[in-house]
Amino acid sequence: METVSNLQLNPARTVRGELQLPGDKSISHRAALIAALASGVSTFTNFSTAVDCGSTLSCLRQLGVQIARDANRLTIQGLGKLHKPLTVLDCGNSGSTIRMLAGVLAAQDFVCELSGDSSLNSRPMARIIEPLELMGARIESTSGKPPIIIHGTKAVTRLSYKLPVASAQVKSAILFAALSAEGQTQVHESSLSRDHTERMFNGFGVEVTTDNDLTVTLNGPARLVGGDMTIPGDVSSAAYFIAAAMLLPQSELVIERVGLNPTRSEFISVLRSWGAEISSGNVHDERNEPIGTVQVRGGIDRSSNSSARRLEKSKIPALIDELPLLAVVGTQLDGGIEIRDAGELRHKETDRLRATAENLRRMGAEVIEQADGLVVSGPTQLRGARVDSYGDHRIAMAFSVAALVADGPTEILDADCVKISFPEFFELLKSITTN
Ligand code: S3P
Repeated sequence: METVSNLQLNPARTVRGELQLPGDKSISHRAALIAALASGVSTFTNFSTAVDCGSTLSCLRQLGVQIARDANRLTIQGLGKLHKPLTVLDCGNSGSTIRMLAGVLAAQDFVCELSGDSSLNSRPMARIIEPLELMGARIESTSGKPPIIIHGTKAVTRLSYKLPVASAQVKSAILFAALSAEGQTQVHESSLSRDHTERMFNGFGVEVTTDNDLTVTLNGPARLVGGDMTIPGDVSSAAYFIAAAMLLPQSELVIERVGLNPTRSEFISVLRSWGAEISSGNVHDERNEPIGTVQVRGGIDRSSNSSARRLEKSKIPALIDELPLLAVVGTQLDGGIEIRDAGELRHKETDRLRATAENLRRMGAEVIEQADGLVVSGPTQLRGARVDSYGDHRIAMAFSVAALVADGPTEILDADCVKISFPEFFELLKSITTN
C-alpha cells in the first residue's frame, strides 16, 4: 500500500540559510549502474537518498551485485556479468531505473522482467525498445509500456541511431548496451539532453566523445573501471529553494557543493534573465561533473527583459524537470511566461502540463494549456488553495514554492511523494523559511 499524506503550508516572509543537499538523483543512478559493471570496488559519498535511487540499488542487488551502505558512504563491488534475477525487478516509480537498466540488461545473457508502480507502468517504453532491439535484444512489453520482458544477448551489436525524442534516459540505455558491442555506436541528438552518462563513462575509464552536431560516440567493447566519487548535491532539488529565495524579498540563501552541469543548471540562467540575483563560485570538477556554491539574494529586478520569457526549442531538454517550477515563478513576473515544445512533460510521473495548469488555476492564476506547453499570465497574487501533487514529487515541490508566496494556507495532497527524489525536502524547507 502506498501511503498518502496531505500537508498544509503557510505563506513565508523570507528564506535564509546555508544548505548542502543529498546527492544528485541522475548521477547516483548512473554511479550505481557503472559501479556494478565496472572492475573493482567503487565508493560513493553523498549518494542520493531518493526512493528512486533505492529502486536502482534493490534491482542491482537482485542481479547479484553486492552493495553496502554505511553513514554517508555507499560501496559497490563490481560484477561485470550480472546474475539472472529470481523474481521480477521492481523499478518502483523510476523511469531512469527501468530505462537505463534495460540498456544494461539488453547485453546480459538471460531473460528477466521489469515492472513498476501504476505511474511507471503507464509510461512509454517503445523509445528504448526500438533501439535496444536494433542492437539484438528482444523486448516484450504491454502495448509499449511496462511490465517489459528483456531477452538479453551476449551478441549485442553496434548501432547508429537518431533519437526521436530528446531523452537522456534513452541515450544512456543505448550507451550502456554499447559497452558490450563490437565497434562504434553513435547516438545523434537534435538538442543536448543531460550528459551525465558521457561524463561519467569518461570519468570511469571508457572514452565517449560528443561532436558539434550532437553525435555521441562510444567504441566497444569497453570495460568501466571502478573508483571513488563524491556525488554533487542535486541541482534539481536545489531549484525549489533557489526559486523560493528569489521570490521572497530579503532572502539570503547559500547552497554548497551542488552540481552545476550546464545540461542541468540552465534554470539558473533563466531565473537570472528573469531578474533573479543568483551567483555561483568555488566551481571544480568531481569525475568530470562540475560542482560549486550557489548564492541567492531575494527579490526580482523588475527591469529585466520580459520579451525573453518564452522557453522553447533546444532550451527545453536542459530545463525539463524544472518547467513546473518555472511556471509557478512565471505567475509572479510582469508579463508572465510561455513554455512551448514541452510535450514530453505529458509523459513524466504524471501529465505535468495538465497538473501544473490545474493547480495554478486552483490558486487563482490565469493559464492556457496547449498541446506542448503553457501560457502563464502574471503578475498574480496566488491564493492559498487545495492542490494535488497527483503523486508526482516535482509537482508537490513546485506547489510548495507557490504556497510560500500565496496569501493563505495551501494544502498539498499526497505531499509524501517528495520522497521519490528528495525525502528531506519539507524538513529543509522549514529550516530555511520564516513566516
Ligand atoms: C533523466 C532524464 C530525464 C528527466 C528525468 C531524469 C535522467 O528524463 O526528466 O528526471 O536521469 O536521465 P527523459 O530522459 O525522459 O527526458
